Amino acid sequence: MAKIYLPYGSVEGQTAQIAEYIAELIRAHGHQAEAADLKRSGDTFPGGYDGVIVAASVHMGKHEKFVADFVRKNRGELERLPSALISVSLAAHGDEQSAEGYVEKFEEETGWHPAHVGMFAGALLYTHYNFITRQLMKKITKDKGSPDLDTGRDYVYTEWDGVRRFTEDFLAGFTAPPRQAQA
Ligand SMILES: Cc1cc2nc3c(=O)[nH]c(=O)nc-3n(C[C@H](O)[C@H](O)[C@H](O)COP(=O)(O)O)c2cc1C
Repeated sequence: MAKIYLPYGSVEGQTAQIAEYIAELIRAHGHQAEAADLKRSGDTFPGGYDGVIVAASVHMGKHEKFVADFVRKNRGELERLPSALISVSLAAHGDEQSAEGYVEKFEEETGWHPAHVGMFAGALLYTHYNFITRQLMKKITKDKGSPDLDTGRDYVYTEWDGVRRFTEDFLAGFTAPPRQAQA
């Protein structure tokens, strides 16, 4: 049984939901998992984990600064353990190139080059934004030619099946049978 840590950064809550979904899935596979909101839990990496999945969302072209700080501070542990990065953005919904660009920038900033990277679409949460953010997001959405302009509702683009597959691929590294000793 493996014990997985899921530190995350989330401004409007979609990445928090993704991290909690992954933690539940990991538990359903018979492992242990703990999701931790880095805004509250601080940047210390608690000991005793066998793997780590860092999740962060993109705002104005960048992932949360406090997630980058966590990664920089704990890079040694992230490199020692099996680890993954999950990047949540609207670009991941149809603009792969930009989504990849955010991840590259994060890797440059932190010096961490995770073996597993998942880029998942987030959500357009019009009903949660304040007036200015709602107008800004509507304009950006309109400029992209998207029809999702009804600010009286939210649009969730996260493909949960993709999140599940990514998690199961990551877990496969823990459930593989031990290698046979050479005769
Ligand atoms: C003010 C604001 C700025 C954003 N900037 C970007 C951006 O530059 N690129 C992008 O792909 N998505 C951008 N997004 C979309 C977020 O990444 C998306 O809503 C995501 O689900 C947020 O995750 P969170 O709820 O965990 O913070 C932005 C969203 C808001 C509200």
